[in-house]
Amino acid sequence: MTDPPGGNGRSIRTLEWTGDALRLLNQRVLPLRESVTSITQAEGVAHAIQTMVVRGAPAIGVAAAFGLVLAVRNAIRKRLPWREEFRKAALQLRATRPTAVNLFWAIERMRKAAEKLPDEPEGAAYHLEKEAMAIYDEDVAANRRMGANGAKLLKSGSVITHCNAGALATAGYGTALGVVRAAVAAGKKMHVYVGETRPVLQGARLTAWELGKDGIPCTVMTDSMAATILQAGKAQAAIVGADRIAANGDVANKIGTYGLAVLCRAHKVPFYVAAPVSTIDPAIRTGKAIPIEERDGREVTHFLGTRIAPDAVPVINPAFDVTPAKYVTAIVTERGVIRPPFPGGIRKLFR
Ligand code: MRU
Repeated sequence: MTDPPGGNGRSIRTLEWTGDALRLLNQRVLPLRESVTSITQAEGVAHAIQTMVVRGAPAIGVAAAFGLVLAVRNAIRKRLPWREEFRKAALQLRATRPTAVNLFWAIERMRKAAEKLPDEPEGAAYHLEKEAMAIYDEDVAANRRMGANGAKLLKSGSVITHCNAGALATAGYGTALGVVRAAVAAGKKMHVYVGETRPVLQGARLTAWELGKDGIPCTVMTDSMAATILQAGKAQAAIVGADRIAANGDVANKIGTYGLAVLCRAHKVPFYVAAPVSTIDPAIRTGKAIPIEERDGREVTHFLGTRIAPDAVPVINPAFDVTPAKYVTAIVTERGVIRPPFPGGIRKLFR
């Protein structure tokens, strides 16, 4: 079967469960190397999430779910009580990255599934593997529905995106890039301006690679060029993913997203957020309560291992920022598109 126009991200295997191991496409080294890491221990999955071998809110949730399956499998092998090993692995996985709620959502879903299982370990491992596979499959399905819902918002032309919210950040197809893929499949002529996304360069390294694989035209720019592109009327919309959305519609996403949203408002360009319902955290009232991960300052002071800032200069490195809901034109989910005022729309999604 040939791929539809715009591709479907199928050729990109972000995560793959072999039945014994979790295989991850190492996102630290893309696009220079396409290397796959095979992981058989829950600690290995936690390390891969923390070091961003796997990254992107939905992808880290799926990886954590398989990490818990590995914990139970290893407990059986070592004749240890599986519930205790599951609990320890869940704690370790929860401590990897604080902002993306999908991680906690997936661990909680696995915990609830585990709670209902009998103590017999083989049966438990079998059911937990099925639950992790369901989380994986549902993510791809949600992204496809999100694509269909969001494609209607885009007209032929150029959109700006930030970070990577594509197949690489999910189990497949992508959220923001899924919407672009669906628009291309619907016959629209799309071009994407890709913000490089300092400091880890998810845009320049990952989004540009992913779009190139599917033949979607794109242009990489530094993050600071978005203003000039918008001022020149070269982009008709912006679309990004999210790591956590509060009950009032405030959106935590990769650092730099907030600035882009403000620029879009200044230039009267719609700013769209595409995210599955698992990214919405109804327990958090506003974005102020979203925990923001502070990462190692070397991501800022070093470039490809070489120091570029003076020795010992103070540095900050918040990995995410919060875009207030007032700058968001619409949130695209698998259950439909919601527009301001967001609190009511978000409540309806959970009914
Ligand atoms: O630090 P990262 O690369 O995990 O951050 C990822 C993002 O900010 C994405 O935009 C977000 O997770 C949405 S992915 C569908």
